[in-house]
Amino acid sequence: MDDTEKMVEEATAEAERAESSRALYEVKMKFLGRTGKVTALLKSMKDLAAEHRPAFGKRVNAVRERLEEMFSSFEQRVKERELEAKLSSEQIDVTMPAKRRSKGALHPITRTRMELIDIFSGMGFEVFEGPEIENEHYNFTALNTPPDHPARDMQDTFYITDEFLLRTQTSAGQIRFMEKREPPFKMLSPGRVFRSDDDATHSPMFYQMEGLVVDRGVTMCDLQGMLDEFARTMFASTSKTRLRPSYFPFTEPSVEVDVSCAACGGAGCALCKGTGWIEVLGAGMVNRRVLENCGVDPDEFTGFAFGMGIERIAMLKYGIGHIRSFTENDVRFLEQFKD
Ligand code: DAH
Repeated sequence: MDDTEKMVEEATAEAERAESSRALYEVKMKFLGRTGKVTALLKSMKDLAAEHRPAFGKRVNAVRERLEEMFSSFEQRVKERELEAKLSSEQIDVTMPAKRRSKGALHPITRTRMELIDIFSGMGFEVFEGPEIENEHYNFTALNTPPDHPARDMQDTFYITDEFLLRTQTSAGQIRFMEKREPPFKMLSPGRVFRSDDDATHSPMFYQMEGLVVDRGVTMCDLQGMLDEFARTMFASTSKTRLRPSYFPFTEPSVEVDVSCAACGGAGCALCKGTGWIEVLGAGMVNRRVLENCGVDPDEFTGFAFGMGIERIAMLKYGIGHIRSFTENDVRFLEQFKD
């Protein structure tokens, strides 16, 4: 009798000291496990005289029940304590500053190119992309610029071999497009071009956007009307255009196109050098020789073409002073073009 009472006391004292469920489980096994003390007592029953066995068995079973109850109440307490410790160690402070997630932005050239495509596709233009490596035929000859033509000097060309070169103008795409397609059409051709040229407003690689419209009865009025619409959408609702006579071998007549200065509204400022106008692109009526070179009958069809530098448009629109800003990858510059 004393032994069993002592065992209960001993088990309770040890269980009280157990601080984790693991430690408590070990104590429990020491008494109630397969090799535990209570099990050993039950096994010792076979050494007793038969008449004592029922009473002994009853007593040991009662002890086992008491121990089981005791352990389960300790188990509950330990689990609660452990949960509390876990919760307080994992507390979330909702007032802490959040982790910064930096968001990317489209490059200003990409943005401007997309905007241009948007404006002109709204007027029915389809996009066509020609190759960056060209030959003399597409880049010059078919554009009415035969070898030794002085206009070839206007564009310092990177030659790869005698035959191949890096295209100096997206105008090469006009020829490739017209070879494949029958007019009428409206084509827009964005892309990279290359020239041996490098200063504050020129870079050896830059982007152009070419436009070509061929149909029956297309006139210079159509050209200016469309450019007016372009300038109003791209720059300011009050923008106007002005055509100045110029020369390009692939257009006749040729013009340079100015847009009224959006910064001063045409009054004259530093940006437009006091003139109120800013040159934005070259254009003209497609030279009949170019149409002939592509198998288009110039007596039936006429057309206009235009070509602009995407960097130049972006510089004017966003007030960017140096063309190198586009390729320096300075995040402080690029970040300003977020929506
Ligand atoms: N290709 C010319 C250049 O790079 C720009 C240009 C002028 C394109 C007149 C045209 C055009 O289509 O009609 O300087």
